[in-house]
Amino acid sequence: MKQVKKISRSPDDTEQIAFELGSQLKPPVLIGLNGPLGAGKTVFAKGIADALGVKELVTSPTFLGISEYYSGKLPFIHMDFYQKVTEASKIEYFLKKPSVVLIEWANNFQEVIGRSLNTDISITIDFDIKNIENEQNRKIIIRYTKFSL
Ligand SMILES: Nc1ncnc2c1ncn2[C@@H]1O[C@H](COP(=O)(O)OP(=O)(O)OP(=O)(O)O)[C@@H](O)[C@H]1O
Ligand SMILES: [Mg+2]
Repeated sequence: MKQVKKISRSPDDTEQIAFELGSQLKPPVLIGLNGPLGAGKTVFAKGIADALGVKELVTSPTFLGISEYYSGKLPFIHMDFYQKVTEASKIEYFLKKPSVVLIEWANNFQEVIGRSLNTDISITIDFDIKNIENEQNRKIIIRYTKFSL
């Protein structure tokens, strides 16, 4: 399994790292994003959306936990499992077509449903505790769980 480690020093850095990934995606693709509150998962989602050409402003999904964007070159489905986990059949439904599905707090699926979510790419964003003096530093690990680009 290929794994790439990146250091982000600002929200713009995180968006840029996500943009680069977003430009190389082969749909359908399921991306799981994990990391603590305020790590930058939604910032990362914005970078992916930007790479896909999504025109709307990407914000945290609402209480329903799913936002769908169709203005880019591929459908961009943004989910957030912090409060509510979406059922597997619905996730699979979006992946039947060439689209990009990105899930914040993807690990909550395992905790709630009791089986793991089969992501193509799994990303962890965390505060960089070695560089705590820079509060904007983040460590981003991108794991290609199913395939390499
Ligand atoms: N290097 C960085 N990368 C991303 N965001 C950063 C960085 N440094 C500081 N920030 C700030 O951290 C916050 C990250 O917010 P964001 O909503 O993306 O987090 P999140 O992981 O989605 O949180 P939640 O778990 O609540 O959904 C933003 O206010 C952003 O400006
Ligand atoms: Mg978020």
